[in-house]
Amino acid sequence: MKSDNNPRHIAIIMDGNGRWAKRRLLPRNFGHKKGVETIDRISRYVFDKGVEILTLFAFSTENLRRPKEEVSGIFELFSTYIKKNLPDMIEREIKFKVVGDISVCDDGLKTLIADAEKQTEKFNRGKLNICFNYGGRADIVNAANKLIQEGKTVTEQEFADALYTGGLPDPDIVIRTGNEHRISNFLLYQMAYSEIYFTSTLWPDFKEKELNEIIADFKKTNRRFGNIEQ
Ligand code: IPE
Ligand code: IPE
Ligand code: MG
Repeated sequence: MKSDNNPRHIAIIMDGNGRWAKRRLLPRNFGHKKGVETIDRISRYVFDKGVEILTLFAFSTENLRRPKEEVSGIFELFSTYIKKNLPDMIEREIKFKVVGDISVCDDGLKTLIADAEKQTEKFNRGKLNICFNYGGRADIVNAANKLIQEGKTVTEQEFADALYTGGLPDPDIVIRTGNEHRISNFLLYQMAYSEIYFTSTLWPDFKEKELNEIIADFKKTNRRFGNIEQ
């Protein structure tokens, strides 16, 4: 545990965009659009506070089951987000990475992602991971298959390194907005010892103040990792 108790890695299940829109009698995609504005605000705040890594669950493998119009709207928003934010990420020295199976993206989006990752790969003032078409089980199965091909037994650390998030420390904090108390196939392996916070706030309404309260609470938490209090 770090002596100052500051979280190094925060992960967020950004849920509630659809309900935010529905309450305003707007189409669901308006909620997703508003959700992107929250990403802009919160990511800036997190890195300004000195947190090293922010991992955001933007689209799950299961979300592909949604109506075509919603899915294509989200892909479109993702593409616009990268185009719009790349110069800012470069300026702020943020390393951008997409975590998940992007084989479902069209060539334009794949190129955009590869380009953004390449242009920011050397940065380390902050690391922004967007989980897109991500599934925790798929992540684990994928890693297992990779390792089977190498034909050796592995340690827990080597297994972690074979995951999409390989090389990053596990999240210290996982937040789920939107009032559901489940993990919905997020970082299953990586969140074994994360502190989990559920809030009823819908993602478009999530504010810096609430994040600050969560971080303050985290700092007071005694993380024992199975040991007893020393
Ligand atoms: C989260 O918001 C974003 C995605 C899953 C893409 P939702 O779209 O799940 O919003 P609700 O849960 O329907 O309100
Ligand atoms: C989880 O939200 C996935 C993301 C936030 C990207 P969902 O809305 O898909 O989860 P369920 O369906 O309520 O479990
Ligand atoms: Mg939802």
